[in-house]
Amino acid sequence: MSATRYKRLTDIDLDADINTIPESRSIQSTLIGFILLFGFVACMIFLTSVQAHPARVSLQDNGKNSPILRTRSQEKPRKRNITKWMDNYFTADESQFLNCSEMIKNNKDVIELYVNNGRMKLDNERLFELPMDCPSIKNRIYGDMPSFRPLKRPIAFVRTIYKIYELQEALLSISYHPDNVFCFVMDSKSTDRLKESVRIMSSCFTNVVVLGKEYSLNSGGHGQDPAHFDCLKTILDRKWDHAIILQNFDLIIKTPYQLSDISESLNYTSIMGFDHGFSYRYNTKAKWTPAGMKLFKIETGVPNEILNRNLIVRKSLNEVIVSKVFVKSMFEKLNMDIIIKLFDDNDYYGVDEMLVQTLYENYLGLEGQMESNCTRNHNDILTRMTHWDFSGPNGFDKECHSKWKRHGICIMGVEYMNELIKSQQVIANKVMATFDFGTIACMREMIKRNTAGETPNTQWLTSFPQFREMQQKANGTYDRNKFDC
Ligand SMILES: *[C@@H]1O[C@H](CO)[C@@H](O)[C@H](O)[C@H]1NC(C)=O
Ligand SMILES: *[C@@H]1O[C@H](CO)[C@@H](O)[C@H](O)[C@H]1NC(C)=O
Ligand SMILES: *[C@@H]1O[C@H](CO)[C@@H](O)[C@H](O)[C@H]1NC(C)=O
Ligand SMILES: *[C@@H]1O[C@H](CO)[C@@H](O)[C@H](O)[C@H]1NC(C)=O
Ligand SMILES: *[C@@H]1O[C@H](CO)[C@@H](O)[C@H](O)[C@H]1NC(C)=O
Repeated sequence: MSATRYKRLTDIDLDADINTIPESRSIQSTLIGFILLFGFVACMIFLTSVQAHPARVSLQDNGKNSPILRTRSQEKPRKRNITKWMDNYFTADESQFLNCSEMIKNNKDVIELYVNNGRMKLDNERLFELPMDCPSIKNRIYGDMPSFRPLKRPIAFVRTIYKIYELQEALLSISYHPDNVFCFVMDSKSTDRLKESVRIMSSCFTNVVVLGKEYSLNSGGHGQDPAHFDCLKTILDRKWDHAIILQNFDLIIKTPYQLSDISESLNYTSIMGFDHGFSYRYNTKAKWTPAGMKLFKIETGVPNEILNRNLIVRKSLNEVIVSKVFVKSMFEKLNMDIIIKLFDDNDYYGVDEMLVQTLYENYLGLEGQMESNCTRNHNDILTRMTHWDFSGPNGFDKECHSKWKRHGICIMGVEYMNELIKSQQVIANKVMATFDFGTIACMREMIKRNTAGETPNTQWLTSFPQFREMQQKANGTYDRNKFDC
């Protein structure tokens, strides 16, 4: 596991594969008859249910002229009693087996009952209409949350998104705080429903930004770096101390207050892993010197030693925690257009885990960056919790607690709740609304009750070389040439 911990993850592909168990060809062909028959019956049931539940189906994308999530004027809102947050997205029937307080204790019977009843899944066919006026949106996002206390150190959440709107609304509500900043970037291939909803949602908050520009994101990681960096640039003048770089399926597992405390401990340190870039993931023949990439806006005063030495390409994961001090210094001193393009190269796969790492771990004289030349590998034990299992294809996997996996990563069903609330880490990857929304709902419940996992203390953080470097600089014992990576 440790040897492969940084292997490429792919976040983008069809949600559909989560529900598709690979079948052999012969089985498939004999199934076709059944499917046709089933389809007919399903149609009849569907048409009947349209009468019974008119609102339920109106969410489907009927084309350009029908705005999605339409509830306010065109139709009567669906009648259901919303007594708790989950009722916004699920019927009481669908959520009846979710029992978060037992699940976090790892009560196997409770978990099994829930799993055997099909989990709580959201997919495009099972969405409610959501009222999209600002009071309703705000009410869903923080209406039931305890009143906010000011944050010492606000956090920016920079997230690329491309799937179901409801998932993003729920993920936002987990970290929502009026002092925090949220920047979303959308895949250009996203549905109109997602795009329109996210834009409406962001218009309700001054601290939720959606970039106007959309990006072509794919499973090779292309588009991620340009998207994240454009978001960072857009929110550079806002008040935040650390930014967390996120993708569509990342679940934050700490409260805003815990994140503020972590940011305080980190001070100007950024958190990411240390590893060499794999030579098959970037163009080794390109000019990797800062001079060759015209990296510095002003080269005058930059030592020749820095200007003309090849950068060593570094990597960890796409998810990183970067300090404002470092981000600000990058945008002030560097012109990153060329290096971003160099990594975001269509000839390579898994390209989005190297840019920040390379700029941080090669000393360029930037504020807040790593000065020591640390080439030894270090796993990032703070940022992202992942249950890797590389053996076998997507789908059923007996090693996963949830028994389900995609691209070498176990999907975090409610079976992971106990681990999630014990974890020191900040993010869990990955949760999927199409597989188990219960994990997201329970995590939100824990955040709401302020019972998320432990906040890492400074002692624990000293396992990061960049953190030790900062401490040594503060106590005057730092020596670049003697630093123990
Ligand atoms: C909502 O709750 C009220 C009072 O408990 C009940 O009478 C009514 O039938 C409920 N409506 C629905 C749609 O469940
Ligand atoms: C969860 O399960 C426990 C133990 O079975 C039970 O006491 C509790 O009432 C349940 N809570 C909910 C919300 O169903
Ligand atoms: C953060 O680091 C700076 C520079 O070393 C120092 O002046 C400041 O006191 C530190 N802040 C905290 C909260 O430790
Ligand atoms: C950093 O260390 C690597 C490997 O030990 C070495 O190749 C490289 O030249 C060093 N870079 C600097 C700037 O000292
Ligand atoms: C300075 O900080 C380093 C890194 O945490 C620590 O190991 C060292 O003991 C400190 N030195 C002094 C004199 O406090």
